[in-house]
Amino acid sequence: MERIRIAPSDRVFVLTGAGISAESGLPTFRASDGLWAGHRVEDVCTPEALDQNPELVWQFYSERREQGAKAEPNPAHVALADLEASLGERFFLCTQNVDDLHERAGSKRLIHMHGELAKSRCEHECGEPPVEDRRVYKNLSEVGRCACGARLRPHIVFFGEIPLEMNRIQKEIDRSTLMVVVGTSGSVYPAANFVHWARQNGARTVYVGPEAPLNAHAFTSVVQGKAGEVMPGLFEVE
Ligand code: APR
Repeated sequence: MERIRIAPSDRVFVLTGAGISAESGLPTFRASDGLWAGHRVEDVCTPEALDQNPELVWQFYSERREQGAKAEPNPAHVALADLEASLGERFFLCTQNVDDLHERAGSKRLIHMHGELAKSRCEHECGEPPVEDRRVYKNLSEVGRCACGARLRPHIVFFGEIPLEMNRIQKEIDRSTLMVVVGTSGSVYPAANFVHWARQNGARTVYVGPEAPLNAHAFTSVVQGKAGEVMPGLFEVE
């Protein structure tokens, strides 16, 4: 297997998607038995769904919380935490995942661009910061309230909403010399564009996963395999 060499002058930006958590037992979205096969996006993951049927939205994310709490980080999460430990501030991780498996593996320099399952925030965006909330709600009446009185909503970026921390992400991509993308189908924007932004800056771009993503043509190399099997031992830090 080709190893990825990381020179002392390199800065590494990693983007992960649902595929990195697949070997931890969490379903991806677009697989034939994935989350979007069993649920309509419009029913559970849009601002309109939250307006029209908040109970269904909360049930969906409560199930995700239950599943996430049972999952454990796999060797791919650990490999990224180890890489961060050797590169320090030359490493940055951006995940589309809302689970906390990267943190639980030891990652620290990371952003959850699509939000976090273990947090809730004000439905009315009153300005209060998100609060830690791992509860599993069966009924809407159980869902907590913000200090302002509005109901809490999952701290999740729904379709049609703007991903979090885009300025920081852009800055980190701009200064990276190597982008590693793991386990994402390349079908959701803006994340699917990150590889193009990195290439415009002259960075090397590597994809890791069992299938070619939709934007495969934009990568300088593709490492084919399951993340948990290929990530440990993939990096050669000089
Ligand atoms: N290792 C690496 N990659 C894997 C593995 C594995 N063991 N198993 C599956 N994959 C890959 C699949 O080949 C697929 O390309 O993971 C990818 C999962 O793709 P999606 O289900 O589309 O998930 P993702 O790309 O993370 O979705 C992006 O869409 O629904 C929204 O907000 C949600 O963050 C999510 C976004």
